[in-house]
Amino acid sequence: MEELRVKVGILTSGGDCQALNSAMYGLVKGLCNMSKEQVEIFGILEGYTGLIEGKYKKMKAEEFQDILNMGGTILGSSRQPFKWIQEPDDKGRDKVKSMIDNYKKMQLDCLVVLGGNGSHKTANLLSENGLNVITLPKTIDNDIHGTDMTFGYASAIDIAAKYIDDMRTTARSHKRIFVVEIMGNKAGWLTLNAGIASGCDVIIIPEIPYDVEKIVKFVNKKIENGKKEIIIAVAEGVKTKEESKLSKKELKAIREQSTATSSMRLENQLRGKVHGEVRSAVIGHIQRGGNPSAYDRILSSTLGVKAAELIVNKDYGKVAVLRNGKIKDVPLKEVAGKKKVVGNEDEITVQAKALGICFGDE
Ligand code: F6P
Repeated sequence: MEELRVKVGILTSGGDCQALNSAMYGLVKGLCNMSKEQVEIFGILEGYTGLIEGKYKKMKAEEFQDILNMGGTILGSSRQPFKWIQEPDDKGRDKVKSMIDNYKKMQLDCLVVLGGNGSHKTANLLSENGLNVITLPKTIDNDIHGTDMTFGYASAIDIAAKYIDDMRTTARSHKRIFVVEIMGNKAGWLTLNAGIASGCDVIIIPEIPYDVEKIVKFVNKKIENGKKEIIIAVAEGVKTKEESKLSKKELKAIREQSTATSSMRLENQLRGKVHGEVRSAVIGHIQRGGNPSAYDRILSSTLGVKAAELIVNKDYGKVAVLRNGKIKDVPLKEVAGKKKVVGNEDEITVQAKALGICFGDE
């Protein structure tokens, strides 16, 4: 009699982050321990690009054995923006059809996608096209709807907060005003939480357009009251109040005129107005780098186990999530296409304001 097998394809898509490997570790361990069938794993290389181009390999469970604490992704990743996924690639290939064909070629029972917002939209499209898909929410941005937290996020908070802690000593010695740029184009979760964790005076996020004069007034008052150093945490994708009135197209045109990033723009806007020397710094990709924090290892590996449970139960079209502190699942179609952003009235924002942090809006 032929042995029963469950065939699972795994891919990691979009910007990498810490804990992708630990999520795969949990997934493969969970599958091997829970499935009554023989588990066959296909590692799909470089995200959806590998699925489109047929770049995959059979992998042994042992290859996922020692990766719990390892950053990056052993499968590699790529960006395949959702807005172009239904257009042919540079070789004229129908990307969606190619992904479906390769899924069938591997004879998969399920495709597991570890990805962020865009990757969830593509995963949902594949699910609507009849593929069995399970997803895991990764991103340092923490902007995936339906989960309290994404993996990668907690590690990135630790890194950004440590960076600011280390920068504070120089800021204090030299009585400087530092503008520190943190990743996050549309969502300010990382900037907000790293800013709170490192005791920033000002936090500027994409969701709350800022008024330069409000920041100037706040900073100068702090300096008059004797504060030596001022640290301003600013997200990548912030806008001034005036810029927030522009259309996407108009703002894009303005941004394209200069290579200045958000921290450099704010440095220029503050220089000469605030009573001190202003310097800007960009933390950059180290926020996504290195090994995952202990919290992220736990979160991602247990989410991986949840994904394995869903596969064993043939409960496809789901996202493994953290909800009210518990590992749960939610339908993929309810998650795809929705972004979780910071609200001005959110408890965390209100509490940050009560800590005396200025958001540049009032
Ligand atoms: O989505 C994660 C993220 O790090 C964002 O915070 C950032 O805007 C973007 O990716 C940067 O992407 P890339 O590494 O492709 O420049």
